[in-house]
Amino acid sequence: MRTHYCAEVNENHIGQTVTVAGWVASRRDHGGLIFIDLRDKDQVVQLVCDPAENAEVHKLAEEIRDQFVLVATGSVRARGEGLENPKLKTGKIEIVVDKLVIENRSLTMPFDLGDDRVNEEIRLKYRYLELRTQKSYNIFKLRSTATIATRNALDELGFLEVETPILTKSTPEGARDYLVPSRVHGGEFYALPQSPQLFKQLLMVGGFDRYFQIAKCFRDEDLRADRQPEFTQIDIEMSFCDQEDVIGVAEKLMQAIFTKCGFEIPTKFNRMSYSNAMEKYGSDKPDMRYDLAMVDVIDIFERCDNEIFSNIAKNPKANRIKALRVPNGDNIFSKREMKRFEDYVRKFGAAGLGYFQMKEDGLKGPLTKFFSEADLQAIVERCELEVGDAVFFGAGNKKLVWDYMGRFRIFLAETMEIIPKDTFEFLWVLDFPMFEQEDGRVKALHHPFTMPKTNAEGKIAFDDIEELDSITYDLVLNGTELGGGSIRIHKEHIQAEIFKLLGISDEEAEEKFGFFLSALKFGAPPHGGIAFGLDRLVMLMSGASSIREVIAFPKTQRAQCLLTSAPSPVDDEQLQELSIRVRKQAAK
Ligand code: AMO
Repeated sequence: MRTHYCAEVNENHIGQTVTVAGWVASRRDHGGLIFIDLRDKDQVVQLVCDPAENAEVHKLAEEIRDQFVLVATGSVRARGEGLENPKLKTGKIEIVVDKLVIENRSLTMPFDLGDDRVNEEIRLKYRYLELRTQKSYNIFKLRSTATIATRNALDELGFLEVETPILTKSTPEGARDYLVPSRVHGGEFYALPQSPQLFKQLLMVGGFDRYFQIAKCFRDEDLRADRQPEFTQIDIEMSFCDQEDVIGVAEKLMQAIFTKCGFEIPTKFNRMSYSNAMEKYGSDKPDMRYDLAMVDVIDIFERCDNEIFSNIAKNPKANRIKALRVPNGDNIFSKREMKRFEDYVRKFGAAGLGYFQMKEDGLKGPLTKFFSEADLQAIVERCELEVGDAVFFGAGNKKLVWDYMGRFRIFLAETMEIIPKDTFEFLWVLDFPMFEQEDGRVKALHHPFTMPKTNAEGKIAFDDIEELDSITYDLVLNGTELGGGSIRIHKEHIQAEIFKLLGISDEEAEEKFGFFLSALKFGAPPHGGIAFGLDRLVMLMSGASSIREVIAFPKTQRAQCLLTSAPSPVDDEQLQELSIRVRKQAAK
């Protein structure tokens, strides 16, 4: 229907006749002349309907409203002196319309397209209208470029793209499953995959050597700005490899994707152990775009005259006392702000938030009276304080302190507006513990197929179960977990030992993963892999504030699709066929 996309029309076409097609982005009636901004997939061009040139076209243009669909033919001319729009690619020209077809009309828009302040529920209900904006188009163009770059890069690295089942059995990623009832086997259910984890390992047993998939995953978990119930992974697995091989492939892949998308990133990423990340940044996904690292002061606090602190300091294995220096903090924070900080950490279980101010004549603040001069000096030196700085203290159980001080670090950086935009700081976080304990139960931190570190004799050995490390690596980008993976257990006896430690009985293991355990007995090669969140990757590259912006038809925080009204009740007949009786309709 068209001769050119809007973006293609420029000064070189002056005097030529072109046909463009798209939606009316805006229409202005300037006493006689009607100007229309016509937008196609990504750009706007100005149409002019002049009654002196074509009275019929002008009459038709009077009917036109926003978002009508037009096909317009006309001659290109330069815009008048001073009427150019430098913000537009097509800002130097306009098309004087000679033939105009209204291909379709539109109801009035239910919201102002492109206005991010509009309630998200309305935007999601009419998602197809929001997709019509340039901002959305650019995001999905970037997503497409990233996906194609992924396929090309992994193909070049010798990976085979294989699809794995969607109707399957529960996979071990630790979230709740989405279940699909079977009609043929009444009372039985498929689970949608939380990831292709077990199948990709089986492909290694199958001898495929290098696998990848752009895989849909489904997890019924609490949703946040960077989580969706249905999301996409770039999923990778390789055989006869160690951690360095997987990291090498991942860095090459990131390099290829970012370069194709027009960004420059380093070829190698920095690394940090899990324990270092927790001790310094209170997080296993620290944002390295700014510093604000914590230091340990538990030994100094042990000597202070305050019983609360000195008691906490008596158990340095279970507890932490951490100091967070804020350069220039004393100069910039008011008393009210200090109180606001304390209120903030209390929300995450802190009993309080101590602080000192570094003045010309030494440390000041409500806590100084509990310390000797020498220990105050020790704090100054340990925290490398300079005049004008503030230093905050968190004390208590180590996991609690890591958590609220880690959150406080981010809160401070946001308050102080010190987070640089448009930079990409990658970090590998390595050596995660194999297990964590919650309410007395041992849980796998990654998943139960992760290879634990073994001692010189090749045995799993530990004094404290939480101190057993695994061969695990997470890739963090600007404080978001972009990907994670591990070297897997390929020997059945190690797998059996891990199940035992997790309290999974032989019967349970057989029932849940029997097919997989049996495959390990048929010559499983050493293997490992990684998966990246494609949605998160695009979210970070595009600077989108939520993962929902980079998914064409996303779900709300309450896992609903407002466009189609899913989930929704089904009729009794369908339920009967599936051998299902719904006990009680959940309140909406
Ligand atoms: P993991 O569970 O760490 O590992 O997931 C890998 C990556 O997937 C992304 N991701 C999500 N993105 C959006 N919404 C979600 N709900 C969501 N959950 C996870 C994250 C995350 O880093 N099978 C293993 C990988 C492996 O060991 O190879 C796995 O799925 O970016």
